[in-house]
Amino acid sequence: MAAKIGILGAGFIGRVHALNLRKDSRVELAGIADVVPEAAARLAGEVGARPFQSLAQLLDAGVRAIYVTTPNATHVEPVVMALGAGVHVFSEKPMATNLAGAGQIRDAARKSKALCQIGFNRRFANVYKFAKRLIADGTVVPKVAHMKMNRGELKQPPWTSDTAVTGGFLYETPVHLFDMMRHLMGEVAEVTGWAVRSVYNEPDGFALLVRFRSGVIATFATVAHTTWLFPFERVEIYGEHQAVVTEEMERAFFSSGIRAEVQAIDCAQMPFEEKWGYVEEDRLFIDAVLGERGPAVTAEDGYRATQLVEAVYRCVREGNPVTLPLKDPAPR
Ligand SMILES: NC(=O)c1ccc[n+]([C@@H]2O[C@H](COP(=O)([O-])OP(=O)(O)OC[C@H]3O[C@@H](n4cnc5c(N)ncnc54)[C@H](O)[C@@H]3O)[C@@H](O)[C@H]2O)c1
Repeated sequence: MAAKIGILGAGFIGRVHALNLRKDSRVELAGIADVVPEAAARLAGEVGARPFQSLAQLLDAGVRAIYVTTPNATHVEPVVMALGAGVHVFSEKPMATNLAGAGQIRDAARKSKALCQIGFNRRFANVYKFAKRLIADGTVVPKVAHMKMNRGELKQPPWTSDTAVTGGFLYETPVHLFDMMRHLMGEVAEVTGWAVRSVYNEPDGFALLVRFRSGVIATFATVAHTTWLFPFERVEIYGEHQAVVTEEMERAFFSSGIRAEVQAIDCAQMPFEEKWGYVEEDRLFIDAVLGERGPAVTAEDGYRATQLVEAVYRCVREGNPVTLPLKDPAPR
């Protein structure tokens, strides 16, 4: 029997997941809930599900798992409630907008018999899988990295410039690359750097230095007001006369030596939802719901990405380097 899945939040990314899930024969899309009834009705109509207005209604409909695809500051409450009810959760990034909220989800996931997967889709994008494979099999041993993650604007959706909703710009797009740096190079030992407030009413440009426990050192630059001119997302990892370079989700390159031929992958023609990793993260989540594997990105991963964001904000606020891990928040 197909697994009944519900979606809370019928906006841009809720629709991306709903369209993926509709193609998975193991899934019955049982309900789409949104505080805006027309939004729920529109997406529910498109994917053949029932429209609802709240998480409680989705749970009453007997769903086995939910997707939480509402704006950033509204993730913790429904995720904790669903996990408490024994319902599996896929939560969009960021897991929370502060360490206390991330801790609540991590605790709820530890206690629940249900599982929690966080929406760090880039782990499943081909360009990053290419880089991860080269590092995981020992072909490249990273020594130094340069990372860049820009955002063209904080205008779309309109709430992206409201820090009460986002938790701050770093929780918007850069948190993806904070997770990616851990995924590729392991735990961070220390961050330092500076931020400026130029266009928006919050720090919107960051120049950071990162030191990993492994000894790898990296630069990380992120700006919120760049337009969408390519390249806005780029990772360069250097080994011993080796380089791995990603360009957006479009292309990746591996130079294995000073005079070696460069290997390349070009994903430009792939459908967006595959190229950006959404199709695979949804398939893996349904595998997990069906008991075939654990969550592909855990609540612990979400917590550690939150820790990195908080460490950077503390560093630029106080003007001092910050070492990780941060102290866990007091339990509630
Ligand atoms: N992984 C990714 O690549 C990616 C991409 C885009 C967005 N996101 C994340 O997904 C989340 C949603 O982003 P979006 O771009 O789809 O936003 P959006 O504004 O397009 O959609 C959000 C929807 O949630 C609804 N909503 C708001 N509060 C609600 C509540 N309390 N209960 C039920 N519904 C509620 C809104 O009415 C809206 O329909 C954000 O956290 C964002 O950071 C992730």
